Amino acid sequence: MARLLSGPPLTAGAESYGAHQQRFGALPAAAARSLIGRLEASHLIGRGGAGFPVGRKWRAVADRANGKAVVLANGAEGEPLSLKDRTVMAARPHLVIDGAVLAADAVGADDIIFYVGAEHRAAEAAMRYALAERAADLRGRARVVQAPRGYVAGEESAAVHFINAGDPRPTTTPPRPFERGVGGRPTLVQNVESLAAAALVARGDDAGTSLITLSGAVRRAGVREIALDATLAEVAASAGGLARPVQAVLLGGYFGGWVDITDLWARPLAPASLRARGHAFGCGVLSFLAEDSCGVEATARIMGYLASQSARQCGPCLFGLGAIDAACRRLAARSAQPDDLKRITRWGGELAGRGACKHPDGATGLLRSALGVFADDYAAHQRGRCVRGAPAAGRPGALAQAVA
Ligand SMILES: Cc1cc2nc3c(=O)[nH]c(=O)nc-3n(C[C@H](O)[C@H](O)[C@H](O)COP(=O)(O)O)c2cc1C
Ligand code: SF4
Repeated sequence: MARLLSGPPLTAGAESYGAHQQRFGALPAAAARSLIGRLEASHLIGRGGAGFPVGRKWRAVADRANGKAVVLANGAEGEPLSLKDRTVMAARPHLVIDGAVLAADAVGADDIIFYVGAEHRAAEAAMRYALAERAADLRGRARVVQAPRGYVAGEESAAVHFINAGDPRPTTTPPRPFERGVGGRPTLVQNVESLAAAALVARGDDAGTSLITLSGAVRRAGVREIALDATLAEVAASAGGLARPVQAVLLGGYFGGWVDITDLWARPLAPASLRARGHAFGCGVLSFLAEDSCGVEATARIMGYLASQSARQCGPCLFGLGAIDAACRRLAARSAQPDDLKRITRWGGELAGRGACKHPDGATGLLRSALGVFADDYAAHQRGRCVRGAPAAGRPGALAQAVA
């Protein structure tokens, strides 16, 4: 089975076009439309966070495109705990380009944009060099656009808005980008790992692996490629094991959720298996929270970050996340106002669906998971105590270390 990161070690840098062709052969010339059927049959789902089926999205764009679509390869990767998109671009740029070219042929696009986070320097350099290596084949069809910093800039309508008007704020939708996106044309926004995986499916692979980013209380943090039927225990073992006893895992990044370690440890990470238990694979972030770290504090740090990343154009997002952030901070510092826990519990259920984009939905989903997994900790913090022993303030949480 071919894998995204098989081949030369990541430390070797970007794989050249020649080496890539030697390993994978030329781009499959299969009828573009038949690839859409193969992607649907493979059940490949998007790796950017939302988990939407790749084949279904290609078909939706192809049905509208009339040869005038745009492919927007999303490598913004603003998620603080994720490193996998910049890794695949920096190490396997030609697999990402293969996927984008196949997508363009399949949906009928004559413009391919690689939207790469401005801070991901090695990834951007690798993509630019790789595009230059294939300039003759691409005939000016592909370009790199630097994505501005910030969590929301990677949201699909924000990316389109930035490319159209230089403003990385999500637009009120509909129309969604697949209907009317870059230059008003149907636009396929697809995560860069999803595109690389599609390039493997086009060559007969079964889409059975995924990239993950490990952090927190694990011995060897970093990016790995896992078989999707691997259990969390197997994944931790492949990273040298846990560095300390662990109480919970942040699954799927800041838009994902906390999961009690006992609920996940022996289960496969396959998206369908996670979904059946109410969890989501998201963008493949797995951050382990040690038993002696405080979940209330770790969650307050995340909520603070997410509140700071509101694009400040929708009241419920700006003021709602701001109020949640303030209450989470007081709780973490064990100086809560009498109703803080009650209030964040209520707000956590009220904000979803009230913004132009899904930023508030993601933030409150994370909060609700914390209120469930760390229920005893929140109750104690509301009473001014931390059940994890050491004082909450000033104690570096495993998660904070991972972010730093
Ligand atoms: C606030 C926010 C930020 C996002 N940031 C990213 C990002 O950095 N990279 C990405 O691929 N998708 C990001 N997404 C998801 C995109 O909107 C879109 O669903 C994705 O790029 C589609 O690719 P996929 O189907 O291959 O996952 C974000 C979504 C939201 C709501
Ligand atoms: S919901 Fe928040 S992040 Fe999304 S567009 Fe509105 S203000 Fe911006």
